[in-house]
Amino acid sequence: QTEGGRGPNSGVGRWATQALEWGMSGMELSRWMTPHLARVEAALSAHIQAQSPAALGEAMRYAVLDGGKRLRPLLVLATAEAVGLDSQSPAAMNAACAIEAIHAYSLVHDDMPCMDNDVLRRGKPTVHVQFGEAQALLAGDALQTMAFEMLTPDPAQVDPLVQATCVALLARASGYQGMAGGQAIDLASGGQRLTEDQLRQMHRLKTGALLLCSVQMGAACVAGVPAPVQAALQRFGEALGLAFQVVDDVLDVTADSATLGKTAGKDAANDKPTYVALLGLAEAKSYAKSLLQEAMEALHSTGLTHTQTLAALAERVVNRNM
Ligand code: IPE
Ligand code: IPE
Ligand code: MG
Ligand code: MG
Ligand code: MG
Repeated sequence: QTEGGRGPNSGVGRWATQALEWGMSGMELSRWMTPHLARVEAALSAHIQAQSPAALGEAMRYAVLDGGKRLRPLLVLATAEAVGLDSQSPAAMNAACAIEAIHAYSLVHDDMPCMDNDVLRRGKPTVHVQFGEAQALLAGDALQTMAFEMLTPDPAQVDPLVQATCVALLARASGYQGMAGGQAIDLASGGQRLTEDQLRQMHRLKTGALLLCSVQMGAACVAGVPAPVQAALQRFGEALGLAFQVVDDVLDVTADSATLGKTAGKDAANDKPTYVALLGLAEAKSYAKSLLQEAMEALHSTGLTHTQTLAALAERVVNRNM
């Protein structure tokens, strides 16, 4: 894979075309995703300049561009559309890029030797393998702060109230009560047997928080979304976020490294508490399906009419193979 390329053999190319196998709604999802993915890629690339002090931008571009399923940005855009916004609006596109920047930063740090010690990510050597540990640490730091820069453009471009709401949502979801907190629990739990409640809480924070935040920011791009609709979208995002990490745990066992673009089998090797370890493979899979059902019911209860894309994305999250 080359930086900036999005060939049919790249991870994302496969994720987009795989939808073709899904019959009618898969075809429609694929048709929806292709231009949205291209716009997200172009916007991310425009935001992160290669020219930078001591080539830090190069490490950031390597971490963010040409890889990843872009699930979080797609959720932002699909939610914005569901609540009636044109997903090309600067508010939605900035939020889409910002959440991906936070996600990419979380992956760079997650892979470092002090955390999961992984050498493969998105089909390439991890950032610390390619650029060294100090540069990886800084690339992650700079991606994190860049996300908040993206959310705060000129007030003429995006309503300052929308900006402030998205900043608050993303800060909370990324921090100690969200992703970073979940990562702390994850690292403190190696070799331990967590109860199901503890495991659910860890997954909700380390992964669920950013997925929920994608949905919340998409809805926050429009003023005046009624509180009951927001609450139903929150239930949708929570169920989907948990389902996502349950499936990540399953794929670590069932998929191969080439398909995943990251080293398979690492959770068992590192004695991580996962849903597969707790429930077994079959029950973990069926739990993911029941969470999908819960997400779909919540989505239905929003009463929104343009939720087909969100529903198809949710189904994709659970029925993916990478
Ligand atoms: C992987 O997330 C890390 C987790 C939160 C489990 P994704 O599976 O969304 O990774 P990319 O963005 O497609 O590489
Ligand atoms: C990582 O969870 C979650 C975050 C990066 C916040 P994992 O450690 O399971 O993710 P992978 O499997 O390495 O992608
Ligand atoms: Mg980890
Ligand atoms: Mg990891
Ligand atoms: Mg994992």
